[in-house]
Amino acid sequence: MKRPFAHVAGLGVYLPERVVTNREFEARLETSDQWIVERTGIRERRYAGPDETVATMAVGATGQALARAGIAAKDLDIIIVATATPDHLVPSTACYLQALLDAPKAAAFDIAAACSGFVYGLTMAEALICAGQAQHVLVVGGEKLTCITDQNDRSTAILFGDGVGAAVVSPGAPEGRGILSTFIKSNGALAELLYIPGGGTRDPMSEEILRSRSNYLKMAGREVFKHAVLTMAEACDEAIARAGIKPEEIDLLVPHQANNRIIDATAKHAGIPPEKVVVTVDRYGNTSAASIPMALAHAEATGRLKPGMVVLLVAFGAGFTWGSTVVRW
Ligand code: ACO
Repeated sequence: MKRPFAHVAGLGVYLPERVVTNREFEARLETSDQWIVERTGIRERRYAGPDETVATMAVGATGQALARAGIAAKDLDIIIVATATPDHLVPSTACYLQALLDAPKAAAFDIAAACSGFVYGLTMAEALICAGQAQHVLVVGGEKLTCITDQNDRSTAILFGDGVGAAVVSPGAPEGRGILSTFIKSNGALAELLYIPGGGTRDPMSEEILRSRSNYLKMAGREVFKHAVLTMAEACDEAIARAGIKPEEIDLLVPHQANNRIIDATAKHAGIPPEKVVVTVDRYGNTSAASIPMALAHAEATGRLKPGMVVLLVAFGAGFTWGSTVVRW
């Protein structure tokens, strides 16, 4: 069998209304707009409201994706939500979304692969379609990272934002368009470089956890940075090799939006010039599993992503997890 078996039929995005600029952090943390811009590239990010959840935000993104794919919620066979910030520990956020969408025939499950979640989700969607298990699969990358970010910790508070991106993946390859390669990998030995120490089942929520603020994300920034650059490079090489293409055939690189310096290093490694790289970290910050679909939707809305283009998606995240895919859009 020869790829492509499946293509991205429609994209959607939901941006929470509240824009939080670096100036807001200057007012309450020992940091500056200049430090944040120089070290990360981030200028602003979106914060969800108290009543917004990943599932409720996903309804907006999904509505757009379904409309662009020309199908309805009742046509969905599977709903996959990639998130590190589920609405509840049990059940999955995907099940809440299934109910909100009223998608009667859909199976629903979450993927916990942090920032690589959307790439993992596309990989699952293609595999399920290829195996004849599904026709239309909804892949959502969504986060409410403000709920797991310690607003007193200047090294993480400035990085993260909220938002949701969604894609409908459908069978077939109209005009040769579709997923040309996928690659996913992990290394759990690095788990504690980026994790939430308390509040899970190993160390359930307690007064001590709240006092020590170990219910929030802890990150060894410099170590994460180093591994991010290495894993993103491996992921680029793998997706390109598996697609059987040359780097110069790539029209657009859409990397996970964690930090400008990681994005630059990734593009340089892959030999992709800056004008072919989509950057949204300046306006949305790091939105983990949502960052790639939000960046894709932005590129589409601004006319940079067009049908027929060869697009490389590449991500890394907590776990560690990493992955990549080449798609003829
Ligand atoms: N403002 C001012 N100073 C700061 C801030 C801040 N917001 N944050 C940290 N600093 C200080 C540190 O305290 C340190 O001070 P010291 O030298 O006196 O100890 C100094 O800046 C340098 O700190 P580093 O951590 O070495 O700074 P670095 O240049 O590495 O930048 C950053 C930090 C931006 C966090 C970087 O390490 C990074 O981007 N790492 C990767 C993070 C990432 O991508 N995480 C997401 C992973 S994906 C997921 O699954 C969620």
